[in-house]
Amino acid sequence: MAFSILASLVSVLVVLQAASGAITRKATCPDGNTVTNEACCFLFPILEDIQANLFNGGECGSEAHESLRLTFHDAIGFSPALTAQGQFGGGGADGSVITFASIETAYAANAGIEDIVAEQAQFVAKYNVSAGDFVQFAGAVGLSNCPGAPQLDFVIGRPAATAASPDGLVPEPFDNVTSILARFNDAGGFDPQHVVWLLSSHSVAAAELVDPSIPGAPFDSTPGLFDTQFFIETQLTGTLWPGTANNQGEVESPLLGEIRLQSDFLLARDNRTACEWQSFANDLSRQQTLFKAAMSTLATIGQDTSTLTDCSDVIPVPAAPVGTPHFPAGLTNADVDQACTTAAFPTLSTDPGPATSVAPVPTA
Ligand code: HEM
Ligand SMILES: *[C@@H]1O[C@H](CO)[C@@H](O)[C@H](O)[C@H]1NC(C)=O
Ligand SMILES: *[C@@H]1O[C@H](CO)[C@@H](O)[C@H](O)[C@H]1NC(C)=O
Ligand SMILES: *[C@@H]1O[C@H](CO)[C@@H](O)[C@H](O)[C@H]1NC(C)=O
Repeated sequence: MAFSILASLVSVLVVLQAASGAITRKATCPDGNTVTNEACCFLFPILEDIQANLFNGGECGSEAHESLRLTFHDAIGFSPALTAQGQFGGGGADGSVITFASIETAYAANAGIEDIVAEQAQFVAKYNVSAGDFVQFAGAVGLSNCPGAPQLDFVIGRPAATAASPDGLVPEPFDNVTSILARFNDAGGFDPQHVVWLLSSHSVAAAELVDPSIPGAPFDSTPGLFDTQFFIETQLTGTLWPGTANNQGEVESPLLGEIRLQSDFLLARDNRTACEWQSFANDLSRQQTLFKAAMSTLATIGQDTSTLTDCSDVIPVPAAPVGTPHFPAGLTNADVDQACTTAAFPTLSTDPGPATSVAPVPTA
């Protein structure tokens, strides 16, 4: 099914180009930027504003991380399975997380999104942009501030949300692998390997609430970089609690200061996902390509893609990757929990020096 996601991505873009061919002109926007489609020009002032005033001058910091997380929490609110039972299944990537914020931010699985929702709502109110488009725009722009990230695709034209997504559709870190995989398959037709691709997002992630005693604890040692470290470090044996012990949805991590979700731990070791997980340990270019493809699908869940307009060229090109795949100081291949049974974990070098602690991601 990897093929079908990529194929559908290509065909969506081809259809969009064909459909809008008559009105598409390579345009120079009023502010001097050039784009393939002049219908995208209105995004440049918004881009400039959020880089300065949401992402603190183009940082891959907490707002960029939270905005990427929000793309997921909005989009995953879609369930054909619920619809088949005669219930409202949610509108997917429709901005309902902002439009119906008072309902959706109260859901337990959405704990921690209220600040970024409130910040983003101010920009939605200021510009003539739908909440659904803005959530995906902010996520793609925020990620572009992270060196090593792919330039995500971005389309506009999502209509206003009509209702809040129902509760219970956002996965929790204490869910088991079977229910997580089923939820992703229901929402977006994702197969197990696509879930792994999407979790590349946790390469630029930290947690505020899983263990509130260590706010901003990152999921890997390089939360400001989109790189392979998340896939390497989640495969290492857990040996310590970075803060308090036994929080729901948390398991032991291999590094002081680093937090590990139970769901990431399980997905790295389950035979449905472990080999795909391991495949990203030393292949950033594959991770970039496949994450980008899966994010394209995520960003349009529940939408009629034939009505959307491609504005991908407004998204900034991220800086080049920094560093190479490695084990943190003090850890080696001997610390890997080998889970994939058909291929060995790649041999990687170890950072020099004694074991260190990972610093928290500063909150704004
Ligand atoms: C199995 C599915 C997933 C689970 C159970 C899960 C769970 C979580 C949890 C518990 C946090 C920490 C929240 C906090 O305490 O502040 C988190 C953070 C994050 N998640 Fe996920 N997640 C999943 C999938 C995804 C996906 C598909 C994306 C994006 C495409 C994503 C993007 C992020 C990001 C960027 C953060 C960091 C937020 C920040 O640093 O403020 N997650 N996730
Ligand atoms: C707002 O955007 C829509 C297209 O998304 C356009 O039809 C409409 O004219 C715009 N309104 C204003 C006031 O610019
Ligand atoms: C996984 O979680 C679901 C939902 O909580 C539950 O119904 C199911 O029994 C669990 N499966 C396993 C194997 O634990
Ligand atoms: C995965 O492991 C389970 C039990 O742990 C087994 O029943 C299943 O057949 C295995 N699946 C694959 C694809 O190896």
